[in-house]
Amino acid sequence: MKRLRSQEWFGREGKDGFLYRSWIKNQGWPRDLFDGRSVIGICNTWSELTPCNAHFREIAEYVKRGVWEAGGFPLEFPVMSLGETMLRPTAMFFRNLASMDVEESIRGNPIDGVVLLMGCDKTTPSLLMGAASCDLPTIGLSGGPMLSGKFQGHDLGSGTSLWQMTDDVRTGKMKVDDYVDAESCMHRSKGHCMTMGTASTMANMVEALGMSLPGNAAIPAVDARRYTLAQLTGRRIVQMVRDDLRMSQILKREAFENAIRANAAIGGSTNAVIHLIAIAGRIGVPLCLDDFDHLGQRLPCLVNLQPSGQYLMEDYFYAGGLPAVLRELGENAALHKNALTVNGKSIWENVTQAPCWNRDVIHNYESPFKENAGITVLRGNLAPCGAVIKVSAASPHLLQHRGRAVVFDNIEECHARTNDENLEIDETCVMVLKNCGPRGYPGMAEVGNMSLPAKLLRKGVTDMVRISDARMSGTAYGTVVLHVSPEAAAGGPLALVQSGDMVTLDVHKRLLQLEVDDATLAARRARWSPPPLPERGWERLYVQHVQQAHQGADLDFLVGRSGARVARDSH
Ligand code: FES
Repeated sequence: MKRLRSQEWFGREGKDGFLYRSWIKNQGWPRDLFDGRSVIGICNTWSELTPCNAHFREIAEYVKRGVWEAGGFPLEFPVMSLGETMLRPTAMFFRNLASMDVEESIRGNPIDGVVLLMGCDKTTPSLLMGAASCDLPTIGLSGGPMLSGKFQGHDLGSGTSLWQMTDDVRTGKMKVDDYVDAESCMHRSKGHCMTMGTASTMANMVEALGMSLPGNAAIPAVDARRYTLAQLTGRRIVQMVRDDLRMSQILKREAFENAIRANAAIGGSTNAVIHLIAIAGRIGVPLCLDDFDHLGQRLPCLVNLQPSGQYLMEDYFYAGGLPAVLRELGENAALHKNALTVNGKSIWENVTQAPCWNRDVIHNYESPFKENAGITVLRGNLAPCGAVIKVSAASPHLLQHRGRAVVFDNIEECHARTNDENLEIDETCVMVLKNCGPRGYPGMAEVGNMSLPAKLLRKGVTDMVRISDARMSGTAYGTVVLHVSPEAAAGGPLALVQSGDMVTLDVHKRLLQLEVDDATLAARRARWSPPPLPERGWERLYVQHVQQAHQGADLDFLVGRSGARVARDSH
């Protein structure tokens, strides 16, 4: 085996070797641990401010067991943790910052292989992005979903049930006391959101990309098998270092195509579009918005999970999880079977015998849960660089719709005016929200699924066409057009829409069109001016460098990889 990079620190003589070894020996490590064995970094997003990852210190201990067993030397290190429900203005604002932390922490330290501990929404893409830019042997391990929420005899799904109950309180269908009680019943165990929201989607993406051991996506956080998987992951990364099996050998174009198709089959989050494009950009695989449409759009949704369906991640695990879905894809010519995975086997070898125990949760191809349910990419004069809609979570009767725009210039105006009884709006209107994109919010918050006006909810309206440059929580639903690019704050045509304009959405024709003539739009553009740059700090750097949604919203100077080598010593 070739000399490991950790030996550039620990295998040295003289002053440098003394310096690199002596200080770390303050933790009680014996001398023989520096004998050339692999050093495995455990990249931990544990934080008490990230509830979904609060059990990660415990998981790390099981990873360490596996690393020790296989003859490695595990060293756990923290990176910036992104709690989706806590961070303002939105966790996505910090995804790229966290990825820089991950990249530089790996590169700057004596690490030969990395285990990425990921859970809450943005912790998965940020770790994959940062690690991809270093390209060491790397394996992903998700923290697992929470147990199903239980309340008054029925299931509660993270996020999805919150949006439903909030509307029920507004229309008087649910008492406020019950709403408060439900707060303690929705999230009752360790783990991340247990709907097919962004966290679950991204855990499925990690597995579909081949970046984790099989079964990673669905095992509940509190199931003993999650801890077994952690131990096996620790064993495996040591062998990956011996084999020099690096991320770039796994994250090929075929792996991303498998992930896109898997995302369609699971009814996954629209956020996967942005994150997969950003990860591909780091590792150097060309991937664009249209890949999601032509690879995934015509695929059926096989998985009946909230928000597109009924069940939750615990049910998905008991039904067979992602291996059962990938087997269906493989048997129907929708999987690159030879794609390599972290266990050294092809993805098809991993899933070829995968059982399904419940066809109501994981349907087969012959009788899918929903037809043609992948993410659809829309274009037109309102979104020249594209926009997306999750058809499986939309209302079929609104997929071809023409309506009068009711425009909100920002999220504050949207909140302030939506419930104004005098707002001129009915269910045929199209709600348009501006300035919530990567630069505009900043950070492209999950506000695209605007609440419907209370007066329409009282009439029994349950969905309307909504359009914005924002994102939407993976747990949300509705006929919601997202990620309009270019965004309003970058001068995209969205900035020019006015209340009263007519807008056409035609999902079958992939069309998003503003029915305003070019001369009028040019006159409006002449009066438009960009928002001022933030004065300082991360916000200024972010706004100056963030790319548009269709490019993955990475910072322009972070795209690509630099490898793991650092030539200079620290002293
Ligand atoms: Fe962390 Fe949903 S809030 S996964």
